[in-house]
Amino acid sequence: MPGMTHEVRAGDQVLLLSPDGKTYLLGLVPGGSFGTHHGNLRHDEIVGKGFGHAVKTSLGHRYLILEPTLEDRMMKVKRLTQIIYPKDAALILLKTGLGSGMRVIECGAGSGSSSMAIANALAPNGKLYVYDRQERFLENARANLDRAGLGGMVEYRLRDVTQGFDEKNVDAVLLDLPSPWEGVAPARRALRGGGRLASLSPTYNQIEKMVTALDEAGFVLIETLELFIRHILVREGKTRPFERVIGHTGFLTFARLALDRFYSSELEEVREPVSASIAVEEEEPSGSL
Ligand SMILES: C[S@@+](CC[C@H](N)C(=O)[O-])C[C@H]1O[C@@H](n2cnc3c(N)ncnc32)[C@H](O)[C@@H]1O
Repeated sequence: MPGMTHEVRAGDQVLLLSPDGKTYLLGLVPGGSFGTHHGNLRHDEIVGKGFGHAVKTSLGHRYLILEPTLEDRMMKVKRLTQIIYPKDAALILLKTGLGSGMRVIECGAGSGSSSMAIANALAPNGKLYVYDRQERFLENARANLDRAGLGGMVEYRLRDVTQGFDEKNVDAVLLDLPSPWEGVAPARRALRGGGRLASLSPTYNQIEKMVTALDEAGFVLIETLELFIRHILVREGKTRPFERVIGHTGFLTFARLALDRFYSSELEEVREPVSASIAVEEEEPSGSL
């Protein structure tokens, strides 16, 4: 309902908007204090206020209290590694068809940014199994997911991808590590028939190796793409794109597991993008009544 007040409680995370347009993600603890260059904010003064309302610092500046979105939480994780950005995570969720109650494997954990998007999509009844070969990354990802209130959705495994996954019949696997092709055989063993695989790689040579590995392992509808995002500076009479853009994050590869051999790579010399081939199939045959 427009204008309805949702009250902030102790233990919540809030997004604070400063007078100079910066945002801060803050976990509220009783007696806590948040230091800013506009003065201090007492956590207890934020508790009990409604989202959308402002609170004053010790120096009298107003900070607006907002509810953090999944995107805010992903961008503000404590980062020890590269992360999957929200634009890429959004398409991964859509392409892998993730939803409540599904079981998913992710390797590696990194900083837990993509894990957040997946765990959120699987809630409340699904499970995400996060693998990484480095304990400090697993622990940092765990702390980030706990802070986002998603910890209960996730189990963590300290393991190199080449040693395989424990789970069977999972709905999807996400591989975000420098050698995702090493995860293809383990993913094949873990996925259910028709299960989806997604991976992100920053370089062309990685996607060549990955797509070859997927093809050889019997995955189908293999598709690789790159997403660009362009922010627009909107001002009356002089609206234009921002000069600075996010250049390159990574290439996304998607595939689905066929349990029966469906076609060989020789028959498929030119790979059509999945969406392009679907569009062609849906066209009315020419000359039909
Ligand atoms: C780029 S980070 C993943 C970022 C994560 N998707 C995020 O959004 O925060 C890559 C992770 O893969 C892990 N990794 C690299 N090689 C691995 C391997 N062979 N087995 C398991 N984990 C591996 C690294 O330790 C690192 O944490």
